[in-house]
Amino acid sequence: MAEDHKVTVVGAGNVGSNTARRIAEKDSASEVVMIDIVEGLPQGLALDINQSAPVEGFRSHVTGTNDYADTAGSAVAVVTAGLPRKPGMSRMDLLEKNAGIVGGVVRQLAEHSPDAVIIVVSNPLDEMTYLASTVSGFPKERVFGMAGVLDSARLRYFISERLSVAPVEVEAMTLGSHGDQMVPLPRHATVQGKPLAELVDDSALEELFQRTRDGGAEIVGYLKKGSAYYAPSSSAAAMVVSVLEDRNDVVPTCAWTSGQYGISDVYLGVPARLGAGGVTEIVELELNEDERKQLESAAEAIRAKCQELSPSS
Ligand code: NAI
Ligand code: 2OP
Repeated sequence: MAEDHKVTVVGAGNVGSNTARRIAEKDSASEVVMIDIVEGLPQGLALDINQSAPVEGFRSHVTGTNDYADTAGSAVAVVTAGLPRKPGMSRMDLLEKNAGIVGGVVRQLAEHSPDAVIIVVSNPLDEMTYLASTVSGFPKERVFGMAGVLDSARLRYFISERLSVAPVEVEAMTLGSHGDQMVPLPRHATVQGKPLAELVDDSALEELFQRTRDGGAEIVGYLKKGSAYYAPSSSAAAMVVSVLEDRNDVVPTCAWTSGQYGISDVYLGVPARLGAGGVTEIVELELNEDERKQLESAAEAIRAKCQELSPSS
């Protein structure tokens, strides 16, 4: 049964429209507002999603709009507006263009929904999350980013494929950045409850991790015209539901650090509890020295990139 919550999804492209659809299908929000700059696009897709309601059996209503007034009073806003990658591009190649788009979007969101939790999806993810936090001026726990859920899901899938088990029987988590400095945690990964390291050798582990780091690019290579959206929209919707239903699920989240893992003042992929009000706790797993160093180096790289963002973004 849909709760009396409004959720806004900015961007009615591949990730945005699928995120709106998945949130509606989960029935955690009474209204899902999808907003885009392209006239007609969010309206048409919203109508299409609403027409699936009797078949799928959900009660949420999806509104398509080009006007931020319709987003007013949102409990959660998901930002997917921006350019996706093309073959040969890195996520970082999107920095300048998407900073302009995300900065403008977040300004409008903050004005119309001053109490919202903002979940950033647009790339480059870690830097866009920092930008959204700066532009909104919201408390840090109310602004975070989606990447780790996706990277972890990809890793879980690749492990399941290799070991011929169901993906849900694999537990694994990645921290760090959404990019080359992703930090996989093999010591915390299990398959049907058994430690992953007992089931595959080191070179197989490294292959699985590298395929996960390259997971987005592998799909861009096939699609040619855009990037992944089914697993990204599942991941964003799961974060929305954890917040709306105050579930406090522990999910890898691009969250603001304040001393956890010995790291401060940077948005970084870490395990976090997501509940009402956003990040309710950053969970500190036991890391060995090598994992800690990898996490610190990911933090340094993100910090350096954030300094490249122009104050006017
Ligand atoms: P898309 O091109 O299908 O959709 C983007 C949408 O944003 C378009 O409909 C466009 O009209 C809209 N848009 C552009 N400027 C806007 C503005 N100022 N206000 C409102 N809407 C605006 O791209 P897709 O595939 O949906 O990807 C969206 C973003 O998400 C990209 O930056 C992509 O790299 C990123 N992404 C991030 C992932 C992650 O793990 N964090 C995973 C997948 C995608
Ligand atoms: C992905 O990992 C493009 O960041 C996006 O699929």
